[in-house]
Amino acid sequence: MTSMRGDGRAPVREAVAPTRASVGDTLRIAANVLTPLVARGVIIRRPRVVAAAERMDADRRLVRTMQRLHARYGSAPLRLRVPGRSVVLVLDPADVEDVLHRSPDPFAATTPEKRGALGHFQPRGVLISRGEDRTDRRRFTESVLEPERPVHHLAVPMVGVVRQEAADLLAEVERTGVLGWDRFVEAWFRVVRRVVLGDSAGDDTEVTALLARLRGAANWSRVHPGHPRLRAEFLDRVRERLSRAEPGSLAAVITETLTTPRTHAAEQVAHWLFAFDAGGMSGFRALALLATHAAEREAVQAELAGRDLTDPQDLPALRAAVLEAVRLWPTTPAILRETTAGTELGGRTIPARSLVLVLAPFFHRDDQRLPEADRFAPHLWRDGTPPAGLVPFSAGPVICPGRSLVLFLAGSFLAAVLEHHDVRLASGASLGPDRPLPGTLDPFHLRFTVTAR
Ligand code: HEM
Repeated sequence: MTSMRGDGRAPVREAVAPTRASVGDTLRIAANVLTPLVARGVIIRRPRVVAAAERMDADRRLVRTMQRLHARYGSAPLRLRVPGRSVVLVLDPADVEDVLHRSPDPFAATTPEKRGALGHFQPRGVLISRGEDRTDRRRFTESVLEPERPVHHLAVPMVGVVRQEAADLLAEVERTGVLGWDRFVEAWFRVVRRVVLGDSAGDDTEVTALLARLRGAANWSRVHPGHPRLRAEFLDRVRERLSRAEPGSLAAVITETLTTPRTHAAEQVAHWLFAFDAGGMSGFRALALLATHAAEREAVQAELAGRDLTDPQDLPALRAAVLEAVRLWPTTPAILRETTAGTELGGRTIPARSLVLVLAPFFHRDDQRLPEADRFAPHLWRDGTPPAGLVPFSAGPVICPGRSLVLFLAGSFLAAVLEHHDVRLASGASLGPDRPLPGTLDPFHLRFTVTAR
């Protein structure tokens, strides 16, 4: 809405408050969308709840609920009726891009919910930092993780680690014939520890176990009192590993990177060790997609054919397959922002300190807008700019700084598996090009048969 200024200068927008959802619709969002997301575990997944969510196809329900809201209220930001807090749902892909590109100010990435959760193991992590702390920690993170390079400058040792761990995994799987989540994630986390902390950390399952316990508490955010001693033990262990600066690892890069009293490198690394979990889940789901979609698998095989994979390289077909796994089953389903001041979004004035919710599964799987919503469609990531609202790694200044590294490592791992082996999905889900892909895909119960070619 606009009006002419009294002095006859350019028109100014008048404040229009966001439409308010009815109490019934707010309760529907709470029941069909927010509760299932929180119950699954925001910081570490609870496998039994994930299995139940798959049976209920929880994310399909999320999409349908959001589509109904969109049909009823339109695409402008919608305020939910939450007592004592302004909570705003984003319903337009253009507004998703606007919110993320105007982060961290006025759309701050740090929210009370995230501080409550991540504080359990990284109270000074970049994602929950503001102002100069945030600038310093983001600079440090980018300079170690190199998000702008598809192939990290340490790619040679990294690929060596990936191929060694994949070979050990395949040797064992060839004997049993079956690849399940437990063995896959064991190998994946060996890669993660060796790449981040150094070769000698490959066997340090304790550091991963300590982090898992802290992440379990983090699922409860502030409701859980926390494990201060465990946190100190975990961070000390990370610091000790970093101090070794083993050649070829990110720990060695850190010693060559500027750190200031604000940086708190170990707490940034704590986030990395946590976030690689999403990479493992997405890699395993991408394997399920490739095992069940012959045309896309052949495109990957064609990409690998005749290449010397010991030589690190960008593998666009595999990268797009992993990106598709994260689009179809986003590992950060709720991207949260908090307004630092009153601001406009989609023609509405959003009050200061509002919680702004971007629900990635809705934008990624909205079949009324995106023809490929429920199909495996790697071309979305290969033919120019992907459609607005596809934000598996977020966007704008807070975009995931680990995206290139995780796509590279997951892609290289899948390349090592697929190079000389046939992989078939044996159980866990029914996937294929002839039916819509499920809204929710539990990675923990996927099983593959693997045979050498
Ligand atoms: C498939 C794997 C991953 C996915 C889907 C993913 C996704 C995301 C998303 C959506 C955000 C933004 C959260 C927000 O805006 O509130 C984010 C932030 C972040 N991610 Fe990732 N991530 C992944 C793996 C990684 C890895 C492996 C690392 C580190 C090695 C990493 C490091 C970070 C950091 C440090 C932030 C905070 C950035 C900031 O506050 O500026 N992520 N990630």
